[in-house]
Order: sequence, then C-alpha cells, then structure tokens
Amino acid sequence: MNAKISNILRQGLLAAALALGAGVALAQTEAAKGPPAGFTAPDLPKPGDSNAERAKSQPGNNAPFWGSVRDSGDKPGITTMSGPEQGVLIQSFVKYPGSSFTTAGEAWRQVRNRWILPYGGALLVIVVVAIGLFYWRKGSMGGHGADTGRSVERFTPFERAAHWTNAIAFVALAVSGLVMAFGKFFMLPIIGSTLFGWLTYALKNLHNFAGPLFAVSLVVVLLTFIRDNMPRAGDITWLKRAGGMFGGQEVPSHRFNAGEKVLFWAGVFFFGLIVVGSGLFLDQLVPGMLYLRGDMQIAHMIHAVASLLMMTLFLGHIYMGTIGMKGAYQAMRTGQVDEAWAKEHHELWYDDIRAGKIPAQRSIPTDPATMTPRAPQA
Ligand code: HEM
Repeated sequence: MNAKISNILRQGLLAAALALGAGVALAQTEAAKGPPAGFTAPDLPKPGDSNAERAKSQPGNNAPFWGSVRDSGDKPGITTMSGPEQGVLIQSFVKYPGSSFTTAGEAWRQVRNRWILPYGGALLVIVVVAIGLFYWRKGSMGGHGADTGRSVERFTPFERAAHWTNAIAFVALAVSGLVMAFGKFFMLPIIGSTLFGWLTYALKNLHNFAGPLFAVSLVVVLLTFIRDNMPRAGDITWLKRAGGMFGGQEVPSHRFNAGEKVLFWAGVFFFGLIVVGSGLFLDQLVPGMLYLRGDMQIAHMIHAVASLLMMTLFLGHIYMGTIGMKGAYQAMRTGQVDEAWAKEHHELWYDDIRAGKIPAQRSIPTDPATMTPRAPQA
C-alpha cells in the first residue's frame, strides 16, 4: 500500500517537472523572437544628455540637471541673486586640507565637522579635565605669608576697565561661539528645535555685536599692557621651571611672569588678532572686500581653529585669575594687592616698588582724605 502511494507521488512530481520545463522552453522561444512589432528601445544614457533626454532613457533620473547646477561654478547661468557670484549655484570642486575633492561647500563642511569640531572639542575637554585634576591635587596656590596690611596698586581703574570689558566680551563670544559650533550635537537633542533655534539666533546676534566690542577692547588691552609684557632677563628661567608651579619655590618675576607673557603674546596678540581679523571679515565689516563664498569658508575655518586654541589658552588664565591663585581675583576686582602677595608672586616687581622705581599707587586718588588703609586679609 505504501509502495503504491509513493509510486503515485513520484509520477506526479515527474509530470509537474516536465510541465515546468515545457513552460520555460516556451517562454525562451517567445523571448528569442524579440520585442513586439513597433517597439523602439530608448537610447542608452550618454554623458552629454540633457535632462529631457535622460528622462527618456532613465525615467526619474535628474543627474544632468544637478550636474549643470553643480557646474554653475564654472559656467555662470541666470539667477536673481546679486553680487560677483551671480549665477553660481553650487561652487566648483576644491580640496581643503582634510577634505575630499568635492564641491567647496561640502569640502568646508567636511573640514569643520570631521576635524575642527571633534579635535577642537576634545582639546577643550582635555584641558578642562587637566585643570580640574591640577586643582584637585594642588588646590589654590599661594597665601603662604601673612598679609602686611599695606596695599600695592596692581591695576589702575583704567586697566581694570579695559581688562573687564575685554574679558566679558570674550566670555560672551566664547559661550555663543561654542553653542553655534557644538550646540547642534549636545543641546538640540535635549531642548528641541524650537528652543534651540531661538537660542542660537539670539546668541548669533550677541556674537556679532560682542565681536566689535572685543576687537576694540583687545587693542586697548594690547596697548595698555604691552610694556610690562616685554621679554626680560629671567623669563627663560621662569619657563624652564614652569614658575615653580609643580613644586619648589616660586620663581621671582617682574610685574608679569613669563607664563603671563606667553599668554599675552600667543593668546592676546597672535590668536587675538587672527580671531578678530577673521571674525570681522565674516561679519563683512572689512571695507573693500568682495566676500566670495570660498573666501568666507577659509575665513570661517581659520576663525574656528584660532578661537578654539585661544579658548584653550584662556581657560588656564581664567583658572589662575579666579580659583587657581589666592588673591589674584581681588586684584582684578579692587585693583589692590597686599605687599605680601606682591612679594610672593612677583618678587622683582615688589623689589622695584620697595626701591621706589615704581610707585606703589599709580592712579591719582581724587580725594586722599577719604582713603583708608586696607585691613589685613586672613
Ligand atoms: C571681533 C571678534 C569676533 C567676531 C567679529 C566674530 C564673528 C564670528 C562670526 C561672523 C562667526 C560665524 C557665525 C556663523 O557661522 O554664522 C563666528 C563663529 C564663531 N566664533 Fe567668532 N567672532 C569674534 C570673536 C570670537 C572669539 C573671541 C571667540 C572665542 C573666544 C569666537 C568663537 C567663535 C566660534 C567657536 C565660532 C563658531 C565656529 C563654528 O561654528 O564652526 N569668536 N564668529
């Protein structure tokens, strides 16, 4: 009985296979006959096709259209846009350091998003962590000698006004710049596009207005402090021993030590002028320029790199001026330091004051009768 059933199944399968084979053979014979009468095959796509021609050979393929939009960098077309790049919809191909050879806008995007932001952001984080570790292990520096109660004028009101203006503008620019650069990655997912849109719009305007204020105050700061930041004997020794920051005695220095001088020349002068120059160019405030897109992209990359390096340098400076060194912030707030502070941190400057070469109080008091000696600090 079982053998009978399996025999029937075997015969059925054989018949089905034969029928399938016959069907395939029939179909192949039909195909071999070619297309139906009257059918003309579309041309194969050709490199120089117009969009209409390509739509016939490959319906829905708009490559020729986008190709000519991209080539508008070489062959100007007609647009309602004004300016020297009229008709250039997509810039021509270029290769910036770190980008592939592609349209300039895309090449700029690649450099910014693949190099400047990840590495610049990582550098900032590393410096913040290093400063945090330094503070954790060492705490605030200084404060070893008891205060004498005798004050020395470290900054005149004019110097403080210049320094504060510059510092406030710097912080406003740094915060707004950081949100413009990194906010899309860290804030947008948390606060949502509406709030993020308004915030970046407001901060972008703050950046544009704080920029010129920073530029002017930077020049004032440079001129005000340049004399005391000139290199002098002893600066190399200070640098070799890192000012005694990592142990040992603090290395004697004049009004500004070699570390402060490096910050002045590298941070304020070098990066300051690059950041201000590129920033004013981006704001289109430099007269007589064409402001072509390619130039704006280069200015933007320079601005972003220089401002990230500048922020890195100033993080150390801000740390020292606030929690890193006892008594330093008071000098920025009141202009006065105790003689003990001057002796501890700037001994050669203190010696010059004691020797009468530099007046202990440089600004002229408006009403000497109202001036009272400062109480010793704990
Ligand atoms: C005269 C001073 C400055 C001017 C005129 C200025 C102007 C500008 C402009 C126009 C942009 C482009 C914004 C955009 O993409 O729409 C920009 C971006 C930026 N600026 Fe400034 N800026 C100045 C100073 C500074 C300073 C001092 C810093 C840092 C402390 C800074 C940090 C940044 C950062 C991080 C960006 C964003 C870069 C990016 O998104 O890739 N800027 N600035």
